[in-house]
Amino acid sequence: MSTDLPTIELNSGALIPQLGLGVWQADDADTERAVRYAIGTAGYRHVDTAAAYGNEAAVGKALAASGVDRSEVFVTTKLWNADHGRDRALAAIDASLDRLGLDRVDLYLIHWPLQNHDRMIDTWRALIDIRDAGKATTIGVSNFEPHHLTAIIDATGVVPAVNQVELHPRHAQRELRAFCAGHGIAVEAWSPLGGSGSGWGSKSTPNTLLTDPTLTTIADKHGTSTARVMIRWHLQNGIIAIPKSVHEERIAQNIDVLDFELDGDDLATIDRLDVGERVGAHPDELNLGAPKD
Ligand code: A2P
Repeated sequence: MSTDLPTIELNSGALIPQLGLGVWQADDADTERAVRYAIGTAGYRHVDTAAAYGNEAAVGKALAASGVDRSEVFVTTKLWNADHGRDRALAAIDASLDRLGLDRVDLYLIHWPLQNHDRMIDTWRALIDIRDAGKATTIGVSNFEPHHLTAIIDATGVVPAVNQVELHPRHAQRELRAFCAGHGIAVEAWSPLGGSGSGWGSKSTPNTLLTDPTLTTIADKHGTSTARVMIRWHLQNGIIAIPKSVHEERIAQNIDVLDFELDGDDLATIDRLDVGERVGAHPDELNLGAPKD
């Protein structure tokens, strides 16, 4: 199943499967079970974690137990806010690799830009060194607005391969997607199904996209679920999506998206759901966990 999933070529030359498993807010036991099932049984070949999720070690254990060769799985982790700054960043990747039990990750991302932009640039310079040292095949960012991207590109000449941002039908990020397309930056969606309804910077509103009447009508038309409709919408728009679930039935359902296609009317109808409504924090406002110096 996994081998048929579309991939996107990143500016590093690496291929990223367009669909992966997200594990934010999953505890160790759930993460280990979910990742093992996703990789070992459901056919996923892409897992997205972060130092801040506290479950890198569980991801590493599940990868080792999955029976699938390391070279076949695309592993992403992220540098947490407290580790901004050159020395902290260089130590943070080593700590993440240690917890994951790996000698390199496929993709290392700066989790948030934060409000100190000089330090953000120093952090990006450290990621370039981390890539050059072979500890991350590809480097990128998360939650960066065009002005953050411009700042790090202008300072270093190195374009991040990926920008992972909140993106779902109610927050389609059209301007940011156009900016990224113009720079060859792949866009990756967090909370691709509209999120869990709680978390950092979140307004803690329940997920209403999974039961949205417009999406339900389209799902009924194709004899499928709203989750699968949203995943198709991401894939057909060239977006990388990492839906989170710790339930085997949903993990399997979310990768079983190759037997139908949204038509032009469906895509246009879903596009009209975009009201710019976030479930998480605006990147310019978040400074959670930032170092004091
Ligand atoms: P759970 O882990 O309990 O399955 P996101 O948009 O951030 O990926 O969040 C998706 C949320 O929706 C998660 O809280 C997840 O919870 C739930 N979820 C994931 N896949 C499905 C699905 N196919 N149907 C319904 N809910 C889902």
